Amino acid sequence: METRNIVLITGVSRKEGLGYETARQLAGQGYKVIITARDYQKAAHLAATMQEDKLDVVPMELDISNAESITKCVQHVTERLGRLDVLINNAGVMTDFTSTIATADLGVVKACFDSNVFGPWQATQAFLPLLRKSTQPRIVNVTSGMGSYDDPDFGLHHFPGVLTTYALTKLTFNALTVKAAKELKDEGILVNAVCPGFTATYEGLKEQGARPVEEGAKSIVWAATLPADGPTGGFFRDGKSLPW
Ligand SMILES: NC(=O)c1ccc[n+]([C@@H]2O[C@H](COP(=O)([O-])OP(=O)(O)OC[C@H]3O[C@@H](n4cnc5c(N)ncnc54)[C@H](OP(=O)(O)O)[C@@H]3O)[C@@H](O)[C@H]2O)c1
Repeated sequence: METRNIVLITGVSRKEGLGYETARQLAGQGYKVIITARDYQKAAHLAATMQEDKLDVVPMELDISNAESITKCVQHVTERLGRLDVLINNAGVMTDFTSTIATADLGVVKACFDSNVFGPWQATQAFLPLLRKSTQPRIVNVTSGMGSYDDPDFGLHHFPGVLTTYALTKLTFNALTVKAAKELKDEGILVNAVCPGFTATYEGLKEQGARPVEEGAKSIVWAATLPADGPTGGFFRDGKSLPW
């Protein structure tokens, strides 16, 4: 039986991404980390890099928009490890930068909802039986301050009218977090939403004021490592509550 805490992170295909850095930090704390990507080779390459540093990281293929891919990944984790302690729903897309309510192509909007809402929802449903085998199960949903009404910098009431589609998907993902937390509370499963803050995961973002990926990932790690009496149904950045 695996004695380390087991965490699975979705959307780990880039070394610059939050998923990779979250994996690196959790593995550094002694977690067994399953990193997943829809392109297996990308996850395998990143896992090999961390394994060179003696970190316990396992790559798997997982496309959260594909039910068959999810079923295969769940089977793989079940056969290999038999349980899951933490699910980090990190995968997501940021498309349609200039969409507005008046002009958005609703086909593109639906595809964005598929990736940012229905994908993690589907993954959560599929991994729940494995999470229920854990003594301290956690779900961390990586959302965004853009999905809040009142985040002073990025909230719907404050941020200029771009990235409308993305904001609406993350707002829905926040709401899903609240409902899931209520539903799973009696089973001891903590479910929280985390905004990593504006993080430099792509070239040019640092110059626009984005913070280092190490800092963004810390917020996710905080929610993944909460104690049994930790909060559930909350929305956090840097371990502090954010306004919805
Ligand atoms: N960076 C920020 O400032 C910031 C702020 C707030 C929230 N976030 C959130 O943080 C998360 C990570 O973002 P990031 O900045 O680190 O960018 P990123 O590296 O592009 O991370 C997104 C990941 O999601 C994966 N993905 C997309 N659709 C998928 C699917 N159907 N199945 C599996 N994987 C899929 C992408 O993989 P592919 O390579 O296969 O496309 C990529 O690895 C996202 O949810 C994002 O919305 C980021």
